[in-house]
Amino acid sequence: MFNIRTYNAISSKGLSRFSADKYTVSSESASPEGVLLRSQKLHTEVLPESVLAAARAGAGTNNIPTEDYTEQGIVVFNTPGANANAVKELIVAGLLLGSRDIFGGMNYVQELGDMHDSGEMGKLLEKEKKRFAGSEITGKTLGVVGLGAIGSIIANLALDLGMNVIGYDPAISVEAAWQLSSQVERMESIEALLARADFITLHVPAIPATKHLINKDTLALMKSSAKILNFAREEIVSTDDMVAALDSGTIAGYISDFPAPALLGRKDVLLMPHIGASTEEAEENCAVMAADQLMDYLENGNIRNSVNYPPTKMARNGGSRITFTNNNVPKVLGSVLAVLADAELNVVDMVNKSRGDIAYNIIDIEGDLDQSIAAAIADVDGVVRVRII
Ligand code: MLT
Repeated sequence: MFNIRTYNAISSKGLSRFSADKYTVSSESASPEGVLLRSQKLHTEVLPESVLAAARAGAGTNNIPTEDYTEQGIVVFNTPGANANAVKELIVAGLLLGSRDIFGGMNYVQELGDMHDSGEMGKLLEKEKKRFAGSEITGKTLGVVGLGAIGSIIANLALDLGMNVIGYDPAISVEAAWQLSSQVERMESIEALLARADFITLHVPAIPATKHLINKDTLALMKSSAKILNFAREEIVSTDDMVAALDSGTIAGYISDFPAPALLGRKDVLLMPHIGASTEEAEENCAVMAADQLMDYLENGNIRNSVNYPPTKMARNGGSRITFTNNNVPKVLGSVLAVLADAELNVVDMVNKSRGDIAYNIIDIEGDLDQSIAAAIADVDGVVRVRII
């Protein structure tokens, strides 16, 4: 049996993936092997030592202390792409809201509550509608910063909407590159992209390297008519520099899913309460993907879509399975194999993958194993965590 601790409201479709004969799922589980969460900030939580993995039903993982978990041998999963369609649709809304004064016009109409003559109202609206005129997005240039699961589908959709699309991603994955239309023009630098775009949409994770990527220097490169869409994370844009750029006319607008007090009450800023992925479909997709990845890790040791461990998968070969994490230094794997040889255990298949400072291994052994072998492997210098599944 495995225990799963949940945080936040996880879609019942995801929770129903855990079969009752193998899992107990509760927000109160005292010694869980797996943690399933959405936006709960785990930086201040002390997780029990039983935890082997944490799965986020969402793309961003800045609410999880990933580096600490890596040192503790806890695998962190996310669900790239599972909510991409929801975010994409809201970005289309953001583009339209940013180019037509839909919001101002709708508010104006609601303010006419004391008019009772529809003829009079019609005349007034025809006279006043010029106040809410805008421009079209067709023919405008969209700059997409970050061409991962979300950035690449937005780039493709913007082409369908008649926009010119330029993209920048120094670390684009092969998978994302395959998904990207050849009509998306690749920019050699973010500076070049910022200088050319009419709209800039940000799709990078919140990591130290992207903190305040949009700041006074990068804002100064943009067209004075440019508008920025931030449906990624608050930290990517310096709020102070954004306010200063809007005040001075350096850029024309900011559309963001991450409100901050200094941004309120401005006509050139449109704010939403982090609802990019808040659709029934996205919540279900994320929960199902997170639950499936967590189960495959707990039951088989396989790793798919982890942000701190290497992707690792091996079909079961019967017999018993050992998995272990070790510091990515020479001799550890050799020493573990020597432990197995001393115990006269026959290796049927194995895989060893590394990522940064850690390595992860799956070894299938003929026959049954008892837990004493886990203790012997754990004693090997450099081994962080061992499981026998
Ligand atoms: C994500 O990280 O997937 C989105 O920002 C939505 C969310 O945080 O739930």
